[in-house]
Amino acid sequence: MIENMGKGRTWVLSGPESSYALHLTDADELVHLHWGARITAADAEALAAQGPPPYWPFESQLDGREEYPVEGGPRFARPALSVRTEDVRGTEWVFDGWVAEDDELRLRFTDALAGLGLTLHYRMRDDSDVIERWVTVVHEGTGPALELLRADAAAWTLPMRDAWRLSQLHGRWAAESRLVRSALTYGEKIIGSRRGHTGHQHLPWVALDAEGATEERGEVYGCALGWSGSWRISVQQLPDKAVQITGGAGHDDSGLLRLEPGQTYTSPVFAGLWSDGGFGGASRAWHAWQLAHVIPGAQEARPVLYNSWEATGFDISEQQQLALARRAAGIGVELFVVDDAWFGRRTSDRAGLGDWTPNPDRFPDGLAPLAREVHGLGMRFGIWVEPEMVNADSDLYRAHPDWVQHHPGRVRTEFRNQLVLNLAREDVRDHLWEQLDALLSSAPVDYVKWDFNRCFTDAGWPGEPYPQKLWTCHVEGFYALLDRLRAAHPGVAFESCSGGGGRIDLGVLGRTDQVWTSDNTDPLDRLAVQHGFSQLHPARVMAAWVTDSPNVQLNGRRSSLRFRFVSAMAGVLGVGGDLTGWSEAELAEARDWVRLYKEIRPVVQHGELYRLRAPEGGLSAVQYVRGGETVVLALLEAQRYGERPPALRLRGIDPAAAYECLDTGVVHQGGVLLHHGLHTGLKGDLDATVIRLRRM
Ligand code: GLA
Repeated sequence: MIENMGKGRTWVLSGPESSYALHLTDADELVHLHWGARITAADAEALAAQGPPPYWPFESQLDGREEYPVEGGPRFARPALSVRTEDVRGTEWVFDGWVAEDDELRLRFTDALAGLGLTLHYRMRDDSDVIERWVTVVHEGTGPALELLRADAAAWTLPMRDAWRLSQLHGRWAAESRLVRSALTYGEKIIGSRRGHTGHQHLPWVALDAEGATEERGEVYGCALGWSGSWRISVQQLPDKAVQITGGAGHDDSGLLRLEPGQTYTSPVFAGLWSDGGFGGASRAWHAWQLAHVIPGAQEARPVLYNSWEATGFDISEQQQLALARRAAGIGVELFVVDDAWFGRRTSDRAGLGDWTPNPDRFPDGLAPLAREVHGLGMRFGIWVEPEMVNADSDLYRAHPDWVQHHPGRVRTEFRNQLVLNLAREDVRDHLWEQLDALLSSAPVDYVKWDFNRCFTDAGWPGEPYPQKLWTCHVEGFYALLDRLRAAHPGVAFESCSGGGGRIDLGVLGRTDQVWTSDNTDPLDRLAVQHGFSQLHPARVMAAWVTDSPNVQLNGRRSSLRFRFVSAMAGVLGVGGDLTGWSEAELAEARDWVRLYKEIRPVVQHGELYRLRAPEGGLSAVQYVRGGETVVLALLEAQRYGERPPALRLRGIDPAAAYECLDTGVVHQGGVLLHHGLHTGLKGDLDATVIRLRRM
């Protein structure tokens, strides 16, 4: 809901629980009034009447108050917008009108000297407290190009509080999305990626709380960016303690792109959410919003998949994949995915990327025969691709060495023996479209795992003037290609992968069905990765595989099938072990776990998620609630002193109802589950259990 008042210069956007208010002063300064619990029109007018803080020389009366701080004028805080032409620096805007259309508010400003038109967009939907913000910048003049050095999607202003705490999700390869919390202090905290993709190092999300929010209580502010290229989020605490968060595409202020007259830049969305339900309440609100408005086809359940990567690496063949497929079908897998090495001369990571036709030695009649066999076994068929990359040893690179990102005369850095194609180029995108469209038409493919296995290093485009649009347009080119493929092949589902979780953000989630969370498939390490992931994203997109024990990929840790399955059942279950090496007993046990997963899947993938215990405590537990159904996944790292692990106090339970445990038949009282908890019976090392309760 959008309300307008105060002689038409104050706006209040409201969702189910929260409001957001802004005001335009007589001097056309757009100031922030409120973000938090719902307020009335009278509250907003009273806030607008308060006016600026006292004047002090050496301090700005605008810093920390503006909806979209620009460069120039009496401001010293980090600007969200920085533009220049040959002779103009900074921005001085005048207000040029507003529109409210459905759930979107647009405020338009112009700067005639620079030839700039700027629109701030706000969207708050009726069913969510998430506010989506973005900007469009247009070169409306006829003069020289406008250099867009920085155009953040939004600046978020927090209310004045004594002390803020910052939560972030940091990581690296095989150790993504781990949650850390620290006090926010004066100055600026910057997270981001200078790598051309979202990166393993941070999920583009921050959360701030001021009064010691807990999992279930307290005010939490969160901001998340929807962009799969380089990005930056800056959290500033100004000298008067005001906190402002800016975020957008690009890693520093040195240049996003050039706008020629008539051209427009549209920033990604930087979404914000206020919740007073603690970190858990905030997560559930983020999840609900993504399931309703971001993830395509989110109401459909994701199938149990098998992926051959850890089992077979680069050494694959049709017969070997078929043998795996038979075993996968036998344990109840619903989607069989052939990973790397089915194409070109891809027998190691040294060759073949770029040549997206089946390797004739390995798949003499293409992929269709295997796909049909897989379908015959009752499963869907999927393949791995990495379209944005090329090995120097490939037909594509030999034909088009100039198609990769590079600076003339400089080294073309290789990571994993590969170079990055320049998807900002139309000819490159057209070529990839033809290749991928032909591939998806050549065999009945139902699923594509789209990988991205190195960062940008030499991101140059010879002949293009600076600031070069490559960084931005590569990502837009990737989105456009994906969108076009989805439109042409509506039955195909896509997974976003980047060496595990290197490309997970709200931008890619708007056009993929699930993500590969991490290359780390160790079921214990995975708990912390999943705990962090769930802060922002729902279980419905979080792929997790059961692989071999000892763990092949990373650490050699031994764990039971039970522990591995319960850990992976927290998201979209997959299996990635070498099934040809599993005994009949192991296969039979796996079949039972997959059957159980299918029973709890509606609750896990579409229920509300409650983190009952974080992994660090030794006992980790997550609960899902959907209607009267509840599922608890509990995993014990190590029992100490023979003591019984703590009982799990459940959430989302009706205190007045009784709940039946579907496995034991024991009846539990809701009030007891909420206030005293449920004993799991876990003991020893690496033990795990699934508890299913139904309201009676
Ligand atoms: C990346 C992915 C893996 C696998 C390999 C194949 O590392 O994260 O799952 O697909 O590439 O080369």
